[in-house]
Amino acid sequence: MQTIAFYNLKGGVGKTTTAVNVAWHASRWKHRTLLWDLDPQGAASFYLGVDQGEGYKAGTVLKGKQPVGRLKCATRWPNLDAIPADLSMRNADIKLVENGGARNRIKQLIAPLGESYELVILDCPPTLSPVAESIFAAADYLFVPVIPTHLSLRAFDQVREWLDNKKFGHLTVVPFFNMVDRHRDLHVEMLVKRPKSMKGGLKTWIPYSTHVEQMGDHRAPVGEFAPYTPSAQAYRALWFEIAGKLKL
Ligand SMILES: Nc1ncnc2c1ncn2[C@@H]1O[C@H](COP(=O)(O)OP(=O)(O)OP(=O)(O)O)[C@@H](O)[C@H]1O
Ligand SMILES: [Mg+2]
Repeated sequence: MQTIAFYNLKGGVGKTTTAVNVAWHASRWKHRTLLWDLDPQGAASFYLGVDQGEGYKAGTVLKGKQPVGRLKCATRWPNLDAIPADLSMRNADIKLVENGGARNRIKQLIAPLGESYELVILDCPPTLSPVAESIFAAADYLFVPVIPTHLSLRAFDQVREWLDNKKFGHLTVVPFFNMVDRHRDLHVEMLVKRPKSMKGGLKTWIPYSTHVEQMGDHRAPVGEFAPYTPSAQAYRALWFEIAGKLKL
């Protein structure tokens, strides 16, 4: 089983949309895939159509007392399951640190899932909190969407520096450009002459596209409702590039 996370400290850069599209592609290639929505906003759960009913407490599982597998739901796509988020994830940090051992908790919780899944994808909230640290300890790869602007790159540099200091030696950090607008000079410049921070990043970039925004209308990945559009093709290429790095 391989574990990958989509993360950036910066909000609204495309972590969730990319996680959902990549998870869908993985499942179409017959990899048994689980997407764990670790963000109380529950956007990934919404896109996959797996909102939870009342009384559901996804956050409590982070205390480490119950197996996380019992929270999984089937999506309407074969080979793709999800662990939905709900508002109880708001206090996830408190739950995580309550019983000690927070850093390794998510890793321990997902370990038994190896029997059922080849790929676990973590959709992360935009924080540098104990939950984020626990995600970093659990993931093999951290894919970081970066909008080609100076501020986005700066945020990414800050994350990298923080990760270096915290010594997550096993974790491979892989940035990629998202929401690229070819009408903007700065975006084009950064694509042509990649900034140093993007070294080791994916070659594939995702264009700014209205089809991505429409995922909320369809509650589905772009490839399902607009397969021949540039953004759908870009997510497909992104998946292939990511798959090339994984041992699936
Ligand atoms: N390539 C794209 N083109 C156009 N819009 C996009 C693209 N990628 C994401 N978006 C839009 O940007 C918004 C933020 O995307 P998303 O929720 O994936 O970001 P996020 O990093 O997960 O945000 P958060 O930090 O709040 O979790 C959404 O409305 C989404 O539709
Ligand atoms: Mg998100």
